[in-house]
Amino acid sequence: MSGGLFRSPPPRRALDPGVAMAALPMPVLALDAHDRFVFVNHAAEYFFGISAGQLGGLAIGDLVRPGHPLFGLIAEVRQGNLIVVQHDLAFEGPRLAREGISVQGAPLPEIADGVLLVLQDTSAARALDRQLTFRKAAQNVTNMAAMLAHEVKNPLSGIRGAAQLLEASVAEADRELTVLIRDEADRIRTLVDRMEVFGEKPSERGAVNIHRVLEHVRRLAQSGFASSVRFVETYDPSLPPVLGNRDQLVQAVLNLVKNAAEALTEAAMAGAEITLITAYRHGMRLATPGGEQRAHVPLMVAVRDNGPGIPDGITQNLFDPFITSKAAGSGLGLALVAKIVADHGGLIEMESRPGRTEFRLFLPMANDDSAPAR
Ligand SMILES: Nc1ncnc2c1ncn2[C@@H]1O[C@H](COP(=O)(O)OP(=O)(O)OP(=O)(O)O)[C@@H](O)[C@H]1O
Ligand SMILES: [Mg+2]
Repeated sequence: MSGGLFRSPPPRRALDPGVAMAALPMPVLALDAHDRFVFVNHAAEYFFGISAGQLGGLAIGDLVRPGHPLFGLIAEVRQGNLIVVQHDLAFEGPRLAREGISVQGAPLPEIADGVLLVLQDTSAARALDRQLTFRKAAQNVTNMAAMLAHEVKNPLSGIRGAAQLLEASVAEADRELTVLIRDEADRIRTLVDRMEVFGEKPSERGAVNIHRVLEHVRRLAQSGFASSVRFVETYDPSLPPVLGNRDQLVQAVLNLVKNAAEALTEAAMAGAEITLITAYRHGMRLATPGGEQRAHVPLMVAVRDNGPGIPDGITQNLFDPFITSKAAGSGLGLALVAKIVADHGGLIEMESRPGRTEFRLFLPMANDDSAPAR
């Protein structure tokens, strides 16, 4: 055998590397010594929201704000003639708003001072990680709810009934105690009823107009708990209907809006604002744990507030039941959101820092042939 590493014959028609590069799912761009674009692939066009033709005459500085860490990275690549990686960069501009982007820069030997940049959206990987966490949380709650409802309800109605009987016969001075027993039994009953929702099987799903859901929640909120908060709506009007259960989706969004309003009210800050967002996220397709199929969940519904952010120390278990920072909170709101979104085959992303907290739900489309049957 003549030299060479391959035992099998090489592919008959070699692939043009340019074609492969163009098809790469992550944005790839090459810059010349003056930071002008000399190559962009399709994913980069999509990322910057601009076509390759338009990018031809532009430099990276036309799209990314001055002082952005990307320029430091590019300078480092040129100076050291080495590969430089930076994680968790945010890109904001008139046409783009992305966070959690990792950038790798490498020298381009063919072009003097040329730099090749590869961008990677790590938020999807992190979302998958979180998806596993919140699915587990939803499962925990479901099991616990069934157990609680079963074990607590019967003896509780016995206790309540007995207290009521006693009430009629005890001395006036002791009546206060029997009333206390009755009221506390009622309080537990309410909690158990709230928990019982978790044990329910996923209900009927159909085509739901998510904008009507958001409108409904906004009206509820503005006429009640969020009357002092300004609402901003950033909708994609062409968004197709969600495959879901309308009442459950109302419940999920309401819980998110309620949390946002509570965070804003507690902080008592001026300019309190809740933004409701819908968007189509192309390529939001995630493998479900243990599943063969990939769920196509491109419809994004987000609730953002400009409050103080999630308190330190609870983000890890945020979707678990009974996790709360509020004196009167039961910590069931987000657990229920997790359960509803899991029942819909969707996923949740959460991002929080002071001044900006955003919960994003990704949901399947109605009439989507590629959506797994559930
Ligand atoms: N938008 C937000 N901004 C700041 N903190 C938040 C936000 N959303 C949730 N949290 C934090 O997450 C915790 C859990 O929220 P969750 O809705 O599960 O329970 P809760 O609001 O405390 O009680 P419940 O919803 O049962 O009344 C909250 O106590 C709060 O600390
Ligand atoms: Mg809540």
